[in-house]
Amino acid sequence: MSPIGEESPERLLERFNQKFARSGQAISAFFAPGRVNLIGEYTDFTGGLVFPCAINQGTRLLIRPTHDHQYRFASTNFDLMAQLEHSEISQTYGDNWINYPLGVLDQFIRRGVQLDGFDCLYSGNVPNGAGLSSSASIEVVTAFALDQLLHTELPLLELVHIAQAAENDFVGMQCGIMDQFAVAFARSGNAMMLDCHTLEHRQVPLHLDGLAIVVSNTNQRRELNESAYNDRVHECSRALDLLAPVLGITHLGQLSPRQLDEQATQFAGDSVALMRARHIADENARVRAAVPALENGDMQAFGSLMNASHDSLRDLFEVSSGPLDHLVRLARMQPGVLGSRLTGAGFGGCTVSLMPESGVSGFIRQVGADYTAATGLTADFYTIQPGDGVRRLGLDTPT
Ligand code: GLA
Repeated sequence: MSPIGEESPERLLERFNQKFARSGQAISAFFAPGRVNLIGEYTDFTGGLVFPCAINQGTRLLIRPTHDHQYRFASTNFDLMAQLEHSEISQTYGDNWINYPLGVLDQFIRRGVQLDGFDCLYSGNVPNGAGLSSSASIEVVTAFALDQLLHTELPLLELVHIAQAAENDFVGMQCGIMDQFAVAFARSGNAMMLDCHTLEHRQVPLHLDGLAIVVSNTNQRRELNESAYNDRVHECSRALDLLAPVLGITHLGQLSPRQLDEQATQFAGDSVALMRARHIADENARVRAAVPALENGDMQAFGSLMNASHDSLRDLFEVSSGPLDHLVRLARMQPGVLGSRLTGAGFGGCTVSLMPESGVSGFIRQVGADYTAATGLTADFYTIQPGDGVRRLGLDTPT
C-alpha cells in the first residue's frame, strides 16, 4: 500500500560514512514524524484550534559534531550535498531544503549558542510538499538534535518556537505553530486538540473501532508558494483590523460565527476578508464540535464536520485545487466513507478520509483508478497510525 520506504539504521549509517569522511566523533540519530491534521485548517496563525496527529512517516537525522567550523548537509532523498563555512550559515541557500536546518542553526546562533560544525545526513519518508509537514519534521528534528548535542537543555516548547521561527524568518513562510507543535508533542494513538493562542493542548485517544484514517496524495505538482499562503495570513489580519475595534478581540480565532453575522457590514468594501473570516469562525466551531463527537464515538458527526471543513476551504478560504476537489468527491462516493477533506496547506498535496477499515483496499482501488482516469495523475494512499513525536533513536555508534 504505502510506497514510502524506510532505510534500516545500518544502511543509513553506511550512507553517512560514504558521504562524510570518518572521524573519531560519535554519530547520533534522531527522528521527527510528519503530521496529518484531522480538522482545524488554516486556523493556527489566527490563534484558533487545530486537531492534528503525527503520522508513522518522518525524517531521521544522523548527526555528528565536527568541531571544524564546517557544516555539511546531505540527504538520502536529494543528490545535493552542501558544505558551508560558519560565515555562510546565516544566509539562505538558494531555494533549497537546506534552508530548513539552516534556519534552525540561525535561531540557535541568535540565542547566543556557540556552534562549531556538524555533519548531517537527513533521510525522510514523508512525501515532500504534500501537506504532511515534511519541512516541520526537518526543522524539529534538527532543533531537538542540536539541543541534545550542545547540551542547551531548552524546553521542548522552545524548540518548537525555534523551528517555527526558522520557517517564518529564514524560509519566509508565515506559518502558524501547528506543524512544529504537533511534530514535537504528538503521542502515539492520540490526536491533539491544540489552542494555538494559549498553546494549551490535550491528547485525545483515537479509538477508531474498525475505522481507518487514509491519506490520499494528489501528487499534483504543488502550486503552493509562500506568497499564496502569506496572502491568506494578510487577509485574515485585514479581517481582524476591521473587527478588533468593534468586538475588542485580539486575534481572529476568538471570533464566533454569530459575532461575524452581527458584524458582517464592517466588511462593506472587503468581501475577500469576510470570506476568510467566515472560514476561520466556522472552522473553529467545527473543531469544538468534532473533538467531543470523536470522544463520544459519533464518527458520523466527525465525518460530516470534515466534509464541511473541506467545502469551506474550497469556497471561502480558496486553498483547494482541481485535483484535490476531485479526490475528495471520489472519496465521498465510496461506500462507508464518513468524511473527506484536504489536509495541510492545500493548493495540491493530500486529502484525509475516514472510512471503515474493511473498505480501505476497495477504496484505494476504486478512487485510484477513477482519479487517474479523470486527471491523468496517479494518487498514492497511506493508512495512518498516529505515532509519537520527536525523539532520539538508539544509534550512538563511535566510528
Ligand atoms: C501549513 C502551515 C501550518 C498551517 C497549515 C494549514 O501546514 O505550516 O501552520 O497553517 O498549513 O492549516
